[in-house]
Amino acid sequence: MAVTSVVGLQWGDEAKGKIVDILTDHHDIVVRYQGGNNAGHTVCFNGVKYKLSLLPTGILRPGKIGVIAAGVVVNPRAMLDEMERVRAQGVEIGENLLLSDRAHVIFPYHMAEEAVMEAARKGEAIGTTMRGIGTCYRDKIGRSHAIRTGDLYHAASYRKKVAEITATKNTILKALSPDFQPLDANAIADDYAKLAETLAPHVVDTTRYLHQALAAGKSLLFEGAQGSLLDIDHGSFPYVTSSNSSACGIHSGSGVPERRIEKMIGVAKAYTTRVGGGPFPTELNNEIGQHIRDVGHEYGTVTGRPRRCGWFDAVATRYGAMVSGVDTMSLMLLDVLSQLDEVKICEAYDLSGERTMNFPSHVEDLAEVQPVYRTLPGWKQEISHIRKVSDLPKQARAYLDSIAELIGTPISIVSVGPDREQTMMD
Ligand code: GDP
Ligand code: IMO
Ligand code: MG
Repeated sequence: MAVTSVVGLQWGDEAKGKIVDILTDHHDIVVRYQGGNNAGHTVCFNGVKYKLSLLPTGILRPGKIGVIAAGVVVNPRAMLDEMERVRAQGVEIGENLLLSDRAHVIFPYHMAEEAVMEAARKGEAIGTTMRGIGTCYRDKIGRSHAIRTGDLYHAASYRKKVAEITATKNTILKALSPDFQPLDANAIADDYAKLAETLAPHVVDTTRYLHQALAAGKSLLFEGAQGSLLDIDHGSFPYVTSSNSSACGIHSGSGVPERRIEKMIGVAKAYTTRVGGGPFPTELNNEIGQHIRDVGHEYGTVTGRPRRCGWFDAVATRYGAMVSGVDTMSLMLLDVLSQLDEVKICEAYDLSGERTMNFPSHVEDLAEVQPVYRTLPGWKQEISHIRKVSDLPKQARAYLDSIAELIGTPISIVSVGPDREQTMMD
């Protein structure tokens, strides 16, 4: 496999980390191109669980290079903490980790602003991860209050920028929240200068690096964070993240043209989950939803919040697959549904009496749709030991066939447990 991408087709947590880990074996370089430490990717092998947030999942495999590209937003302290945490699990991190000098930096005022903005939305809060992701991306787009990784190494202008920006942020935060204690610009500048020094050996022009690697015949694996329905432009706005978390973000985030990608793999769960606010047509606020949450251990990797659970939504996932332009799908956590008497797939929406396969662009329409379900018999047996699709119970195969048919995309990987081994590939 030369250049491959792995992208989530739903609202995140589709088990992208597991697939990226498996495919890393066949690639030289793994690239994160958007998002930041709002992501939480889990990988399990040899009885050990690894949780990656900002670091590319490929870093777990010896001899592979992990790249954090220009489109990622980076909290340097969180990055160093994660490096230490992963090192403590026996993973080597040194020259195998590269960070773009173009990546924007998350500062303490980004977290402070996010807390104030979210609190102000009250019942309509986005339910963000509170990592300063959206506020950092907002400053990036706004340009005047933005600091990139490369700026940390230009001492004089860097200190001036931190002083100016912190003063503005203090004014805004004080106005919005009278109890706010002003941040000390000098302390922030000193702190981040130290963090930057520790990170310095990893900081390069990753865009140039990736193009040189391609010219040298190296294979790249793009690791998406979040999912297509959380995409800032194409997702369920405003209940989305602040980056292009569909495959649309690969080109802008990495600097590698999308036409260089030879295989686009979309990852989907066998059901649907969502963390945070926003409409969720197939949500199950009942004992089946709780059953899925319990069996699937559906609690956030980053924030520990219980994930909202529901039936597989073929309308939403088909839209995610369309926007991301995937060639094949990887269907995850099929084992979680094994005890159910029957399983349902939302095959259309009913919007104001009209049946549609279109995913609404307006959040209020999405909130109004009624799912139209196709009901299939459950398989009622343990499947996590099965390693060949043809060995799956016929009801489980019928379930997979229905999903592939409704999405219009073949399923090339099926996962029946968190471990690397619990995977079936064509
Ligand atoms: P990501 O953010 O897309 O990488 O996904 P997360 O790691 O946040 O969530 C997926 C969760 O499902 C993790 O806890 C994985 O260990 C787990 N997992 C992955 N594949 C399977 C599977 O096929 N079956 C079960 N039961 N768990 C799985
Ligand atoms: P991975 O990569 C699931 C959600 C948050 C919130 C919204 C905006 O593990 O799939 P943000 O902090 O990004 O501004 O929050 O997006 N969200 C995720 N949900 N998986 C993720 O990442 C997510 N990253 C952000 O819960 O609803
Ligand atoms: Mg996750």
